[in-house]
Amino acid sequence: MTQEFIQVGDTGELRPGTMKRVDVRGLRILIVNVEGRVCAVDDTCTHEDASLSTGVLRGELVKCPLHGSRFNVCTGKALEEPAEEDLRTYPVRLDGGRILIGVPGAESP
Ligand code: FES
Repeated sequence: MTQEFIQVGDTGELRPGTMKRVDVRGLRILIVNVEGRVCAVDDTCTHEDASLSTGVLRGELVKCPLHGSRFNVCTGKALEEPAEEDLRTYPVRLDGGRILIGVPGAESP
């Protein structure tokens, strides 16, 4: 499957220590600025249907607002139960001030 890099924002609007949810091609993705490094993972908790963008961010760990599982937003690793499955990660490119996320591209006709 091809991969396509899509602009989802710019670094000026995503300060270090903040995160936001973006919707790209039907995917809900959480983008996080961890001290200048931008990481991207699935926004939906792997335990139930909670948006991690409404959780609490500390460094590179986000805590799910529903049952408190913690995930590493750069590796996707699930670090605390009840969630056991890791989050999917997405490649990030910074182009000038633009934040681009690699998502599965459209199939060629
Ligand atoms: S929905 Fe995230 S820990 Fe339960």
